Amino acid sequence: MEKKWWHNHVVYQIYPRSFNDTTGSGVGDINGIIEKLDYLALLGIDIIWLSPIYKSPMDDNGYDISDYQMVDPLFGSNEDLDRLIEEGKKRNIGIMMDLVVNHTSDEHPWFIESKSSLDNPKRDWYIWKKPKPDGSAPNNWAAYFTRSAWAYDETTGEYYLHLFSKKQPDLNWENSEVRRAVYDMMHYWLKKGIAGFRMDVINMIGKPKDYPDAYIHDGGVLGHEYWANNNRCHEYLREMYQEVLSKYDIVTVGETPYVLPMDGMKFSHPKRGELNMIFQFEHMSIDKDNEFGDRIPFDLVTLKQLMTKWQESLHGNGWNSLYWNNHDQPRVVSRFGDDTKYRVESAKMLGAVLHFMSGTPYIYQGEELGLTNTYYEHIDEYNDLYDHNKYDIMIHDRKMTHEDAMNNIRYFSRDNARVPMRWSEDEHAGFTTGTPWLQMNEDYKKVNAKAALEDENSVFYFYKNLIQLRKESSYSATIVYGKHQLLAPDDRDVYSYIRYDDHRRILIVANFTNQIVTRSFDETVKNLIISNYDLKTVDVQSLNLRPYEVVIVEI
Ligand code: GLC
Repeated sequence: MEKKWWHNHVVYQIYPRSFNDTTGSGVGDINGIIEKLDYLALLGIDIIWLSPIYKSPMDDNGYDISDYQMVDPLFGSNEDLDRLIEEGKKRNIGIMMDLVVNHTSDEHPWFIESKSSLDNPKRDWYIWKKPKPDGSAPNNWAAYFTRSAWAYDETTGEYYLHLFSKKQPDLNWENSEVRRAVYDMMHYWLKKGIAGFRMDVINMIGKPKDYPDAYIHDGGVLGHEYWANNNRCHEYLREMYQEVLSKYDIVTVGETPYVLPMDGMKFSHPKRGELNMIFQFEHMSIDKDNEFGDRIPFDLVTLKQLMTKWQESLHGNGWNSLYWNNHDQPRVVSRFGDDTKYRVESAKMLGAVLHFMSGTPYIYQGEELGLTNTYYEHIDEYNDLYDHNKYDIMIHDRKMTHEDAMNNIRYFSRDNARVPMRWSEDEHAGFTTGTPWLQMNEDYKKVNAKAALEDENSVFYFYKNLIQLRKESSYSATIVYGKHQLLAPDDRDVYSYIRYDDHRRILIVANFTNQIVTRSFDETVKNLIISNYDLKTVDVQSLNLRPYEVVIVEI
């Protein structure tokens, strides 16, 4: 496979609203990011994926855009963003912008025009359908944030499609003017010298010709057998590649729920000319039994199966993204690790298991500190609109008790990730001098970036090492391009795998329990590469793994 400059790069995701506030507004801003660039350079990351900073009514915290080429005043100005790009460049950090083009805000001028009359030139820019004879919605599709994916608009007596909130109408990609407008906007950003795009739910832009009722019910969202990963979507992406992406040396990642490795190959095989990689969701679903998220126990055997399937399938046939966290997921330490006694050990272990795989690692802000979930008491304390819809459905449709519903929300809420960064032990964790937009987690008195930087055994420095090993060590080539072999797939407690090429073999062994476990590998250790306990030498023939211990050796 042809090598690319970004193959050994590590991406750090910033959710600007929660990163660093320089104005006292309680909301993070672009200048706040600039202020922390040296911190990120020290960590060693190469690219920042910036969640949306565009003008927005903030129904979905910026994933509802009303002007694609304008920074929302809440976050600063276009000049601030130019400065971020420039200051990033000085430190070899590129900026990957979030491209949200499955939908716009309902306050985008395009939609305001579109809804104004049946014969407005932009009418066809969105997906409008007549009501059924009884006045009901055109079909039974459900959305992520509302019960129905259709909203009725009085002005013209038709319904428009919105796969997310009512304030996020879906664009009609069948319309070539829409596509042209999107491509023009992409050129605008690319000409500024950004490093690439993360594309929000990009596998949903193709819609079926007719709009049939859906039958596959995964407990919440209905209709994805029609609107996710269809041929139309691949055609649009190939066109986008021809018209835009191929003209720049950039990196792209598509957010693509409901994908299997075959889809992953289609989206990311370099010869197909679509995207560089995608975010798959299979491993993010192993602790819930459906979209509305009844929690099921974490199962390491399943995790290993899923991760290995992706590692093997895309090797030479595409490219993987590697992630445990993002702004939509609860904190991984609280999920697959231990967020109390072994917080530090399990945070490092999880990082190591992921960063030794093949693909592009994504670190979500605070992951490098081992941040954990934040549990609020009442539903009103949660900001995320998803939680409110979900709570309503759990109580009214599923007849769950308030306590059961709240337990579910507390564990899965996207706000777990969105609680502001903990910078120091100062008031509000040094995030703001005002009132944080989302209630802080009191853990900041102990867990914060300042403390991490002062402690050579912190999660921060462990992540820094992981990044260095991938980028600039004698193991880089094997970590980035080597083959993957899972060992002991049925071991319920220990995750072990080998990365290898013609020159080196690396063994990764990780204890996913809070117990001491003993394992044996018939291998001779040449070098200890990294571990999360104080180890000088290691014999893998008789290995006593302490709680959440990870040992990585050259064999
Ligand atoms: C993606 C984003 C999520 C957002 C949704 C709608 O899943 O990651 O935060 O709510 O798209 O734009």
